[in-house]
Amino acid sequence: MNRRNLLRAGVGLAGAAVLGTGLYELLKPGSQTGQLLGSEAPIPPAFQVPLPIPAVLTPSRTDGTTDYYEITQGISTLSVLPGLKTPAWTYNGTFPGPTIVSRSGRKTVVKHTNQLPEASVVHLHGGHTPADSDGYPIDLVMPVSGHDMASMSGMNTMQRDVSQGSREYAYPFDQPAATLWYHDHRMGATAPNVWKGLAGFHLVRDDESDALPLPRGDRDIPLMLADRSFAADGSFLYKALMPGVLGDVQLVNGAPWPVLAVDPARYRLRLLNAANARRYRLELDPQPPGGDAFVQIAADGGLLARPVGHDAVQLAPGERFEVVVDFAKYKPGTRVRLVNTFASGRMREVMRFDVTGSDRGDDSSVPATLAEIPVLDPAKAVATRTFRFHQTPGGTWTVNDLEYKPGRALATPKLGSIEVWRFVTDYHHPIHLHLNHFQVLSRNLFEPGAYDAGWKDTIDLRPAEGAEIVTRFTDYAGAFLLHCHNLEHEDMAMMADFQTS
Ligand code: C2O
Ligand code: CU
Ligand code: CU
Repeated sequence: MNRRNLLRAGVGLAGAAVLGTGLYELLKPGSQTGQLLGSEAPIPPAFQVPLPIPAVLTPSRTDGTTDYYEITQGISTLSVLPGLKTPAWTYNGTFPGPTIVSRSGRKTVVKHTNQLPEASVVHLHGGHTPADSDGYPIDLVMPVSGHDMASMSGMNTMQRDVSQGSREYAYPFDQPAATLWYHDHRMGATAPNVWKGLAGFHLVRDDESDALPLPRGDRDIPLMLADRSFAADGSFLYKALMPGVLGDVQLVNGAPWPVLAVDPARYRLRLLNAANARRYRLELDPQPPGGDAFVQIAADGGLLARPVGHDAVQLAPGERFEVVVDFAKYKPGTRVRLVNTFASGRMREVMRFDVTGSDRGDDSSVPATLAEIPVLDPAKAVATRTFRFHQTPGGTWTVNDLEYKPGRALATPKLGSIEVWRFVTDYHHPIHLHLNHFQVLSRNLFEPGAYDAGWKDTIDLRPAEGAEIVTRFTDYAGAFLLHCHNLEHEDMAMMADFQTS
């Protein structure tokens, strides 16, 4: 069988599995990607609060090669809903955590101190990172107090490389400019830990991208999209629901349905879907005259070769898209809503941009060529592997019928080699690969989709889809992860090790 026929067989199999497990309902277009957990607290009206921008963290020291940062994980009280307090698990007291900005070619070391009541693990999503700093799910950072409530409750029974109180994560940043993010990755607890607030941006800059005339400064805005639900007392409400948890309050950078006043000018928006399970199809309402509301300039792993115009941008959990929006296309005074057309009711709205009258000029532009992107050649692949992401009749989420088990590698790529990996699904599964970014070769036997361009680390697959990706494994030997980024699926075992050597 050639590659295409094999893939077809794989897709057929997934299709059969889906029908067999009664998930047929979920195949309908626009269907839910999780289950709604309704808030008990009153849900505030939209567009009442300004968009917060997470503070950029200052290094505690720097030397010739390295910038050193310190982050304390702890419980902090946030004001998210009017009149209520939200105790959150935070990085340095805020949700999102502080933004770290690194330079390509310089090392970054982040020392995380754990003042939480439970052990934690930090992963830099999109980082090309050695295994011992990648946040392997049982490389626990124990609480400073010495009391790990999770191990007392029997949750942290598996451990590997455990640190007491704090741990230094070292990132070489031998990778191009990109929008990365860091978040908790503890075995079996990633979903509740991220839901409670453990997520932040980590941007990488480099000289090539800095030289481009793209919007910058206060016209370069990170937007962390995440839905949450709230208990009556204002605390985050969470319950591990099998399909994935959907909230009924839309947060952007931690604020419910915020508003950003913008100049009539171009803005670079760094879109991150940090939700546990929600997918977004973002559109501007009203659409700008002439269409192409969003000019995509970057994907998960950095700049695209060339910009791509979209009327809508789709993001699954874990994905990043950088887009340029030109608010000069709107009449001053226009209120432009960012909407999620995958959702209904209140969750259809995300945030609002108010185009103010003040014209401070705009010398930015989007060049026709953005970056030199080497194209990986699948003909050079030394191995082709298939990974089936599906739910067993017993109800667990698995990869190739196996529940996650630390230390059991489902693949053993050799460093320096190119491999083609096939992903086949039964449900919505955003599939994420650690260590190396990849390029999408095909989707359902056809060309890659509209949102598959550039270097990716997460691919959004719908029910009964099949995709082929190509990657080259480079630099670091050790155990890394392949998993679904629906965080409930991840916690419920849809994760696998691969071991590079
Ligand atoms: Cu963003 Cu392994 O995760
Ligand atoms: Cu990751
Ligand atoms: Cu999944």
